[in-house]
Amino acid sequence: MFEVTQATEVYSTIEIAKGDVAAGEQAADFVVERTFRVGLQEQLYIEPQGAIAYPYRETGNGKRETGVTVVGSLQCPYYVHRALKRALALTDEQAVVIQAETGGGFGGKEEYPSIVAIHAALLACKAGWPVRLIYDRHEDLAATTKRHPGVISHRTAVKKDGTLLSQDIYIVLDGGAYCTLTPVVLSRAAIHAAGAYSCPNVRIRARAVATNTPPNGAFRGFGAPQSLFAAELMVEHVAERLGMSSVDLRRKWMLRVGDTTATGQNLTESVSAELVLDAALRAVAPNRLTAQPPIRHGRGLSLVFHGSGFTGSGERKLSGTVAVAGLANGTFQILTASTEIGQGTKTIFCQLAADALGVGLDKVVLAPQDTSLVPDSGPTVASRTAMIVGRLIQEAATELRDRAKREPLPLRVEKTYVQPDSIHWDEATYRGDAYPVYAWACTIADVDVDMTTGEVRVTDVVTAVDCGKALHPVMAEGQIEGGSLQAVGWATIEEIKMKDGGYQNDRLATYLIPTALDAPRIRTILVENPYSRGPFGAKGIGELPMDGPAPAIIAAIHDATGVWLDEVPATPEKVLAACTSR
Ligand code: MOS
Repeated sequence: MFEVTQATEVYSTIEIAKGDVAAGEQAADFVVERTFRVGLQEQLYIEPQGAIAYPYRETGNGKRETGVTVVGSLQCPYYVHRALKRALALTDEQAVVIQAETGGGFGGKEEYPSIVAIHAALLACKAGWPVRLIYDRHEDLAATTKRHPGVISHRTAVKKDGTLLSQDIYIVLDGGAYCTLTPVVLSRAAIHAAGAYSCPNVRIRARAVATNTPPNGAFRGFGAPQSLFAAELMVEHVAERLGMSSVDLRRKWMLRVGDTTATGQNLTESVSAELVLDAALRAVAPNRLTAQPPIRHGRGLSLVFHGSGFTGSGERKLSGTVAVAGLANGTFQILTASTEIGQGTKTIFCQLAADALGVGLDKVVLAPQDTSLVPDSGPTVASRTAMIVGRLIQEAATELRDRAKREPLPLRVEKTYVQPDSIHWDEATYRGDAYPVYAWACTIADVDVDMTTGEVRVTDVVTAVDCGKALHPVMAEGQIEGGSLQAVGWATIEEIKMKDGGYQNDRLATYLIPTALDAPRIRTILVENPYSRGPFGAKGIGELPMDGPAPAIIAAIHDATGVWLDEVPATPEKVLAACTSR
């Protein structure tokens, strides 16, 4: 069974209901229906999966004691810690996990390192020697999890003037042969499925199904890029049916302070759909040069939001903990399990701590991400590191500074996340505050389409982003640039060819991602609309740039060619076939 639409075995389902969709459709002048498809994608972190396992733990002065130590390329030391404890029946102290320098994770190093660590640890225990287990790129591509492909259908009811009456959405994600974080990915897909819009009547039905392919799992955005792709293109289709500009329609529909989302969450602050839409529109030149045949230019736009932090009661359950220590020599140490994976954790944590302590950056160091040294501040995922963990570090450092005025060093202050009383979430009904707050982005993409080959060249991507506060603007822009390029790849050239449930192009020679020469000019406009409970107002930023470019690119291809593709990747073969079949 390789076809997601025919799969019968279900991993998990979610239903979100708001208002009465049937009543919405009854009052409508138009009901527009459309189905969208999204494809697989490989995270392609810099180094493949790998770990070194030692059949002991060191307890200082080179003393070895019973236990297992794993050093690996990973995002979440305590996930691997938990896996080792369970697989090898170890105590908290006996399992030690240390993050090695990690060249990107993108979700791919969220859960898979637990498997690699257990395999290496079993071999090390059996051999009585350290074991190094590193996948080569082919093994990594062939076996590790990919972004979930899926099929998403929308029925949208509107009045002639564009008033949005109802959204009826059906999502099917392909989980592959084993259940990974799939139910959690499905959750994020479902919660974001209605898009950044206010609608009185919404029904979202989502299911993750089993097929006989390698399993799919976490990948930057975690289901939201898939469902937002459909939501954004649906705006385009409804606008076309109404004969309205899709920008005007977005302005009519978009969420504002006081509106409620599909889960019934009342948005009270840091709601920036209009801010980012205006900022993006202001940033682009209204006219482009006319193209010479066979090239045609096109431009498309998207407007998205992305929840920051774990879903619903997730952050309360995680109870992330950090510590800041003032050492006797006058330097300060940040103790956290949150990892640097290229996104800037080390830099912003040191900035936040130094600022709160009132000392120079050179006085602050980050303790190694070693479970025998640092508390569990939760996984490095879900756009939570700056907002949730950064805030805890800020609070701990502030308290340490106060105490240091009265008490001598060394001192250590620990802080654990406490869910604000104002956040209410009902897991059983999927109603309430799905996230503490949302980040917002508007992307405008320009493309050149070669009408003789079907090749799409994304020439420009402009994104206006509200992440609350960019703690380090250059790194925040770097996040947007990297995520945008990853999204351009997903939208245009990243394609996995399947045969009998296996990947055919499981090598870097055949699985293509954008190179420097393929990269568009990427421009980022940071719009800052602070969140009251983020450090200096900061919200999430890591996953957001994965959401917007794909639908903007498909809309741009339509602008250039007059053809709606409704799916990614928009490979030359598909673009050419669509253009010639008109
Ligand atoms: Mo993730 S896809 O590392 O939240």
